[in-house]
Amino acid sequence: MFPGPLGVSLSGDALARGAWSLEARHIRDHGLGRHRAVDDTPAGGGPGMVLRCDVLAAAIDAAAPPGDPRPRLLMSPRGRPLTQALVRELAAGPGAVVVCGRFEGVDERLIEGRGLQEVSIGDYVLSGGEIAAMVLLDACVRLLPGVMGHDASGTEESFEGGLLEYPHYTRPRLWEDRSIPDVLLGGNHAAIARWRRAEAERLTRERRPDLLGEGGKG
Ligand code: ADE
Repeated sequence: MFPGPLGVSLSGDALARGAWSLEARHIRDHGLGRHRAVDDTPAGGGPGMVLRCDVLAAAIDAAAPPGDPRPRLLMSPRGRPLTQALVRELAAGPGAVVVCGRFEGVDERLIEGRGLQEVSIGDYVLSGGEIAAMVLLDACVRLLPGVMGHDASGTEESFEGGLLEYPHYTRPRLWEDRSIPDVLLGGNHAAIARWRRAEAERLTRERRPDLLGEGGKG
């Protein structure tokens, strides 16, 4: 699955330049027996299969021997929510070892024994952790030095200022009876900054009051 969409566009160009690197590993390379089994039935019964701790530990240790300074993450709907703050923290660090689960889950002893930090990309369940890992990696890679075209685009966008991003416009000036707000065409940069700030606050209040600490989901 990797690099998948991370191999094109901004992240792909940065990967080709060596601004970041990716080493994808197959858990099955550490599987057991003739069938290279990586999972088994859940202790206590129930549906699905559980990834074995011994197999996953071998895969993790091969990727990152004990003492490797990189945080070990496990993509899981049970995890700490992925936020721009966590993305910034990871992007500033030495990299990460990202474990992608499949099946019903991962033997709990592996999570404890290898100190895995569970990270969730949202309150829904994917069929595996790979797409979630790509989301995390994409968000981190674009913050690495020299990856983004415009310096400001890393700090002016949604969440970086604690607000959703203000609306954008470009040519044509009039489209299907809709015009670009006059203030954006007037050349008064202080007025433009005030308008953008007010719009960002309005959108955040309407859509994500939790970001303002005004109740809602937060
Ligand atoms: N694996 C399955 N669902 C997930 C989610 N919501 N976040 C992270 N990893 C997952």
